[in-house]
Amino acid sequence: MMRSLIIGTGSHAPPRVIKNQDLERIVDTSDEWITSRTGIKERRIVDGETTNDIATKAAKSALKAAGVSPKEIDLIVVGTVTPEMLFPSTACFVQSHIGANRGIPAFDVSAACSGFLYALDVADKYIRTGIHKKALVIGVDLFSKIIDWKDRNTCVLFGDGAGAVVLSAEKGKRGILSTHIHADGHYWKTLYTPLAICSSPLHHKTPEHSYMKMQGNELFKIAVRTMGEACQEALDRNGLKAGDISLLIPHQANMRIIKATGERLGMPEEKIYINLDKYGNTSAGSIPLALDEAVKNGMVKSGDIILFAAFGGGLTWASALVRW
Ligand SMILES: CC(C)(COP(=O)(O)OP(=O)(O)OC[C@H]1O[C@@H](n2cnc3c(N)ncnc32)[C@H](O)[C@@H]1OP(=O)(O)O)[C@@H](O)C(=O)NCCC(=O)NCCS
Repeated sequence: MMRSLIIGTGSHAPPRVIKNQDLERIVDTSDEWITSRTGIKERRIVDGETTNDIATKAAKSALKAAGVSPKEIDLIVVGTVTPEMLFPSTACFVQSHIGANRGIPAFDVSAACSGFLYALDVADKYIRTGIHKKALVIGVDLFSKIIDWKDRNTCVLFGDGAGAVVLSAEKGKRGILSTHIHADGHYWKTLYTPLAICSSPLHHKTPEHSYMKMQGNELFKIAVRTMGEACQEALDRNGLKAGDISLLIPHQANMRIIKATGERLGMPEEKIYINLDKYGNTSAGSIPLALDEAVKNGMVKSGDIILFAAFGGGLTWASALVRW
């Protein structure tokens, strides 16, 4: 049976660091509040770079790690909700910037913070059909462009970042074992950005009306439930128990959400990868950025079972189980 093997990872976080102390000068907040409620200490924010720039950098580093030429890539899928333009898609720009072959399919998927796992799900399904052999999957978001820097409820939570993986069609037991994607549009008001490009400008009375809106408390509870359910679904589908997991790489939104998800599963803390203290919530960039770090830190070995789980605007939630 054909599976998608992750043969290379890459990422890019912009070099400009914004510490909690820097935010104390912008809004009524404190390092103590942000650290204790979220676990975040600092985040990266672009300084002139665009979504296409950082997606391309992540893609190039994943290709290099995989030892794969851009000409071998026959599918590009990008998860993002902060594209540089309404169209062309970020994937089309990446295709051109990395020098991939003309004519291959390249498209974006919109699932907010679940975007990378949605993109992985789509690419995996193409590979399993035997149609595509080498796919580039990217998660990228620049939430610094859509948050209200005067709103302390949201501006302390997010950062910018991108991550990418190269998938190769291989036979054998290693690779993506299963992916699980879900959505419930009834909850859309818990997290949304009403920047409505295709509706009347009268829709937005002031620029503030177009920034991201969030019902933090409500979202917190749904996140813990859906991430836990998605993880359990992945385990059940593969006949595995939490004890079989070598590493859980969750969406990096809030330390308390991550810990609650781990507790629900009965996962020890040392088996949960956390880097949100350095990057905050980078939305679709979050999981591939963490994966790339974990790989570079030597925390992922051949044969390891890696579990990914995310939730995000939509609402959407997703999981994936991989035998490395
Ligand atoms: C946003 C979140 C950190 C808030 O934590 P919380 O413990 O639920 O805090 P609350 O919302 O109850 O707010 C508690 C108080 O802190 C205040 N507060 C909110 N943001 C603050 C900040 N940055 N600094 C200081 N105080 C802040 C609130 O105004 C509130 O004050 P009040 O009690 O006087 O009204 C938490 O709900 C969360 O992480 N939710 C999920 C958000 C998320 O993950 N979004 C992305 C999804 S992909």
